[in-house]
Amino acid sequence: MSDLTATAWLAAARSVHFGACLLLFAVWFFDRFIAAPVDVPGAARTSGDLLAGRRTIARRLALLALPAALASGVLWFVIVAAEMGDLPLAQALDRGVLGTVWSKTHLGSVSKFRLICWLGACIGTPPALYLRPGSFLCGVSNWVALIASALLLGSLAWVGHGQIGPQVGFHLAIDTIHLLGAGCWPAGLLPFSLLFSRWKRMDKTVSWGVLADLTHRFSAMSLACVMLLGITGLANAWLLLGGVSDLWTTPYGRWLLLKIALFGAMAGLGAINLLYCRPRIAGDSTRTAATGVLEFNVKLEIALTTLVIVVVAILGVLPPGSHPG
Ligand code: HEM
Repeated sequence: MSDLTATAWLAAARSVHFGACLLLFAVWFFDRFIAAPVDVPGAARTSGDLLAGRRTIARRLALLALPAALASGVLWFVIVAAEMGDLPLAQALDRGVLGTVWSKTHLGSVSKFRLICWLGACIGTPPALYLRPGSFLCGVSNWVALIASALLLGSLAWVGHGQIGPQVGFHLAIDTIHLLGAGCWPAGLLPFSLLFSRWKRMDKTVSWGVLADLTHRFSAMSLACVMLLGITGLANAWLLLGGVSDLWTTPYGRWLLLKIALFGAMAGLGAINLLYCRPRIAGDSTRTAATGVLEFNVKLEIALTTLVIVVVAILGVLPPGSHPG
């Protein structure tokens, strides 16, 4: 397998892995801090209706993200092991090679920690989604799934460019905050979009006030995350670029410019949702148009998020400006 093919496979494995880890954390963060506070007694004509919708969506997304995270993580590990041994992929599948990387390298230690986090998320998920809501075990499982998925996502900083450069501690902290911020927004757009359209279809039992509250909470959180991603992203760029001109003179810089442009477009759509859609959702005469614009914008943002994740996957396999490699 040529180097280019191996790099392309690595970028593909990173894309799926970032997507799966971002989504898994987003499912639990969104349900606990955005959807659950809206799902209060009396919010729906039949109690439990809202929760049933929340659980169905969390179940489907978690059952998608968990195996995707494992499979892509294993592929990522094997490809990097092959690179470390300067071996063709087939030979890297030799147990000796993988065993050495697993037990003797930084990647191996971080992967062990991340496998434990993944197992924690697997253990917490079923009871959190099937046990009686409000029961002690259900509550504990929910927290286990949320914390395990946060650690699984945040620990990606330890296998990325966050671990290089003169200020590693600061860089790792910035990168971890950046990853968790991205796990709230824009990764939260998918559970939001699915729950919004599901609750909207239940208009006989769910009031528009509930949908307006859900949108209000989500867009307030999104605004905070846009600012957090902008600040931590700039800090990341400052630590990784050799200078501003790297943005247009290096492949790394040009991919980062594309990412910033995609981010700008997403923030623009978010501003329309916040300033135009949100205030009109509860209004009888304005809600249909506002809901239509909101649902369209959110779908567009989800598509742009997918592109950002692919760009991030590519950034991680390129030498940053400050470390031309
Ligand atoms: C939609 C918003 C954004 C999302 C979803 C996002 C997501 C991510 C993710 C998942 C990583 C990988 C971290 C790692 O490998 O350790 C990352 C890294 C990074 N992000 Fe962002 N980010 C966003 C916005 C931004 C913005 C606005 C900037 C710049 C102003 C930025 C600059 C960076 C840089 C420089 C890195 C390091 C890439 C590397 O070399 O591995 N990000 N981002």
